[in-house]
Amino acid sequence: MSQSPELREVAASLRELPVPSPDEAAHSAVLAQLIRAAIDAAGGAIGFDRFMELALYAPGLGYYSAGARKFGAAGDFVTAPELSPLFSRCVARHCAGLLTQMEGDALLEFGAGSGTMAAEILLELERLQALPARYDILELSADLRARQRETLQARAPHLAPRVHWLDALPEEFSGVVLGNEVLDAMPVHRFRLTDGAVQELGVTWRDEAFAWTALDACTPRLATRVQEIAAAAELPPGYESEVNLAAEDWLRSVAGFLRRGVVLLFDYGFPRHEYYHPQRDGGTVMCHYRHRAHADPLILPGLQDITAHVDFSAMAAAAAAAEAGLDVLGFANQANYLLGAGLLELTQQGSGDVREQLAVAAQLKRLMMPGEMGEVFKVLALGREVADAGAGFALRDERYRL
Ligand SMILES: C[S@@+](CC[C@H](N)C(=O)[O-])C[C@H]1O[C@@H](n2cnc3c(N)ncnc32)[C@H](O)[C@@H]1O
Repeated sequence: MSQSPELREVAASLRELPVPSPDEAAHSAVLAQLIRAAIDAAGGAIGFDRFMELALYAPGLGYYSAGARKFGAAGDFVTAPELSPLFSRCVARHCAGLLTQMEGDALLEFGAGSGTMAAEILLELERLQALPARYDILELSADLRARQRETLQARAPHLAPRVHWLDALPEEFSGVVLGNEVLDAMPVHRFRLTDGAVQELGVTWRDEAFAWTALDACTPRLATRVQEIAAAAELPPGYESEVNLAAEDWLRSVAGFLRRGVVLLFDYGFPRHEYYHPQRDGGTVMCHYRHRAHADPLILPGLQDITAHVDFSAMAAAAAAAEAGLDVLGFANQANYLLGAGLLELTQQGSGDVREQLAVAAQLKRLMMPGEMGEVFKVLALGREVADAGAGFALRDERYRL
């Protein structure tokens, strides 16, 4: 098969990956050993979802559970809140309107990373005189929790007492739930279509390395889902991609505790017809290691991030299904969302200093341009007992694309 320019770029970047330090290599070898033990215990292969779960979240060893730097210039990738405070300030403005509408006074953030978004949102809400009584964080990684505490103490010490770290999902919650780049970090199932059947792709250990293998059986849930996708998009035999069942389960549990409020999910991804496009036949799994993106999740376990784009149609369908019973309130790309939430007003508030203006212009380019984060990053709003999705979707709401 000839490679697209994108794939050639990915293949070239794979050859140019930085070499891990001896300490990093030793850390990765310990995690590889743990994954090999799981493979042996399962009779020779595990699903890719299990491999991704261990690579990212194995206690003390996985990419998100151990102490690697991850976010920002010295890490592996940059997220919107790390790139510019303007992102979080827009989210705060949108949340202020939502909280007023629902008479709520709590925010709950999933997967808060370095804690930057939490600090910037609280500071902006303070400026708007709209501080919530609580800002809860649910974070899987003990290492990141510690980092979030440090960030809040350093940037907004007077607001830090409002922040609480939850050990488990709350029983009930009313307010705004936030997740930035959380869905893309959930373990996905990989599949391949064969003539009339669905194969689940798993991971084995062969020739001193992790390798892809077809699993003997595919769970009925995965097979049914993939058959629906394949039939709707007329996908050919040989087509490979992934399905994020974990994100759908997660969304159902969020719906289970949300009494009244809005869930805002920010991530890169597409509506289903673009995600499972016949030409996107290798799926969307991507890895990030020291700002190099490539497509091989089976190398560098514990040292690199592994992600998959989000099928926003699947998220909307899971939210609207009877068991969850949420309303799909809005869907927009990041550029339109930020404009709706007040980005231009915020940029006009600068000090006039030329260096600051140049920095803001560079941030706007990354956040807004279609070739950067403006188009591929999306925002999905789901809710219960809230009529209006708020300012973020006032400029453009593209639910019809889901
Ligand atoms: C790509 S990072 C994004 C971090 C941060 N939100 C940001 O934008 O910089 C993914 C985060 O999601 C967290 N995560 C993944 N699954 C989660 C879950 N089920 N519950 C809570 N956090 C989760 C990870 O631990 C990690 O902090």
